[in-house]
Amino acid sequence: MPDVVPVVPAPLVLEPVDAPPYVVSAATTVVVATTGAAVDDPAAHPATPAAVLVADLLGRAAGHAVRLAFEDPGVPGAVHVRLLPDAPAASTGPGAPGAGAVGDGRDADALPPGDEAYRVVVAADGVRLDARTPEGLVHGVVTLRQLLRELPDGGVEVPAVRVVDAPRYAWRGLSLDVARHFVSVPDLKVVIGLLGHYKLNVLHLHLTDDQAWRLDLPSRPELVRRSSAHSVGGDPGGHYSAADWDEILTFAQARGVRVVPEIDVPGHVNAAQHAYGELNPDGRPTDEYLGIEVGFSRLHDDLPATHAFLADVFGDLARMTPGAYVHVGGDEVLTMAPEEYARLVRAAADAVAAHGRTVVGWQEVAHVDGLPPGTVVQLWDDRVDPAPFVAAAERGARILLSPGSRVYLDMKYDADFPLGLEWAGHVELRDAYAWEPEEFLPGLPEGAVIGVEAALWTETLRTLDDLTTMLLPRLAAVAEVAWSAPERRDLADLTRRLTAHGAYWDRLGLAWYRSPQGVWDAPVS
Ligand code: ACM
Repeated sequence: MPDVVPVVPAPLVLEPVDAPPYVVSAATTVVVATTGAAVDDPAAHPATPAAVLVADLLGRAAGHAVRLAFEDPGVPGAVHVRLLPDAPAASTGPGAPGAGAVGDGRDADALPPGDEAYRVVVAADGVRLDARTPEGLVHGVVTLRQLLRELPDGGVEVPAVRVVDAPRYAWRGLSLDVARHFVSVPDLKVVIGLLGHYKLNVLHLHLTDDQAWRLDLPSRPELVRRSSAHSVGGDPGGHYSAADWDEILTFAQARGVRVVPEIDVPGHVNAAQHAYGELNPDGRPTDEYLGIEVGFSRLHDDLPATHAFLADVFGDLARMTPGAYVHVGGDEVLTMAPEEYARLVRAAADAVAAHGRTVVGWQEVAHVDGLPPGTVVQLWDDRVDPAPFVAAAERGARILLSPGSRVYLDMKYDADFPLGLEWAGHVELRDAYAWEPEEFLPGLPEGAVIGVEAALWTETLRTLDDLTTMLLPRLAAVAEVAWSAPERRDLADLTRRLTAHGAYWDRLGLAWYRSPQGVWDAPVS
């Protein structure tokens, strides 16, 4: 048993067992436990997709196909994938409740509460993966992937271990700006794969800004036709078609990641005003803008076209995106009186609520009265007074923490770093990791913090290598802040576990930053 079991984020319970490892062999079979379920078509069983992932994972590592079975062959050496009963009545996660749980009831009591909980038990004679929901099973598959060891002789083994795990926060996200620089679907899939690998469950896409509009909406075809061709500085742009959007959503869902789309209003709207002149008092389209200033563009409450626009774009977005949340932006509107700002944010929120969705907004919306209960207020500029957050939470809002000085992963690692900005300071591995979400905003009511979301703004980030260089290793650290119990977090321990992750990123061919705060060379044994 090695000293370091490189699972990130740290599980609630991880007990190495002093016993021989599980060795993947030609006889290895993945068994979907369908016991107790009325299953006519095993392929349609809700545990089957996770079992397919396990068979694929083990087969690819071992270099041969691994069989999938729907009945226990009754011989040692199988990997059992099982959904337990006892699904909670309501989802604790951000989005739809988990699929109905089925199973035979054994061992359900040993799982922690919540629909993302899972358990992985590895012994020489077999592996058991249990959860209440498909999302929980996907987390278990990820843990198994991180435990897997490929040996120099070509063998593949998993150390004997017992993992019992569940997340601290229901919302563990990354906000990605695809407006300043477009991120193509293949590149986006790499980012989504990383989210899944670190058990992050929300991809918040910042789809619109002054520079560009990136999602084709049926009611407003001119948005992408006129305002998506470029990125900051005249770099190439692009947009997502409805078919691209479905592909992104499906790819994310299979990895336990939900997409929260953002249309940013009532500021950051030059791309919309360039496409539709009716959004401007003089009726004329604005010029394309490819710089990186903020705060200059704005909608106008007294133009009827504004309200039709808000109803159309948020209606389309809600219809195109399953999931409970739609983000209305609301940040950095520097040229508007508070009353007009409040009216426009309420109009956007009403358009979202009309489709049965919950509103998310950047921290400025905390000042707006009359937002629907349960609205999520996203902190980003941590230089501000906590009082409006406390007041909003007391009115029923939930708080999502994205403090710039901690989790804005577009901040430079240090002053000499070639990529990124530095308005919120420099963010090294330790800064992203060593902070406590419950202490960030003193005075919040208990339970007000819904989670933690990293952010990656792309003013200076042009390529997939740029994105992953900023994400890795800091995204793994933020994921641990959001997932792991405070007593399970320790920077020295994290850096030891991350050593194996650096090797994994290298094997995938990802660019990443060898932070001097990490330990990237495995000790020679
Ligand atoms: C933001 O960084 N303007 C939300």
